Amino acid sequence: MLYSERVMDHFTNPRNVGTMDNADGVGEVGNVKCGDIMKIFLKIDNDIITDVKFSTFGCGSAIASSSMATEMIKGKPLSQALELTNQAVVEALDGLPAHKLHCSVLAEEAVKAAVKDYYDKNGIEYDKEIFAQTHDCEHCGE
Ligand code: FES
Repeated sequence: MLYSERVMDHFTNPRNVGTMDNADGVGEVGNVKCGDIMKIFLKIDNDIITDVKFSTFGCGSAIASSSMATEMIKGKPLSQALELTNQAVVEALDGLPAHKLHCSVLAEEAVKAAVKDYYDKNGIEYDKEIFAQTHDCEHCGE
């Protein structure tokens, strides 16, 4: 079986799908190679992510990754959401095939972009390093 049961579960029954009116932070990222797009909406109260929604125009692995990522950051402080790595998402999904690892990177980047949007909108100072586009997805070489 190419995909774990968890991946299949989050693909066929994704959590937190949708959009959000009056989101406090919105992050949209795309993968230039495949053209897939992921958007994440955050509701933030006192530095805590009280609600999160995502919409993904992308492959099954991207949908499963965003679903899992939203579950992992819901109810968590922003600092924790910023520490979410694509590796952690992949582990929580019980793995992704090597050529699909880049799909999980979209989830990490979309979460970061949404938090950055919130910081920018509210004039909150942050360490720009956190948002430097670096990830170590050695398999896809992106
Ligand atoms: Fe594009 Fe998966 S193939 S995100």
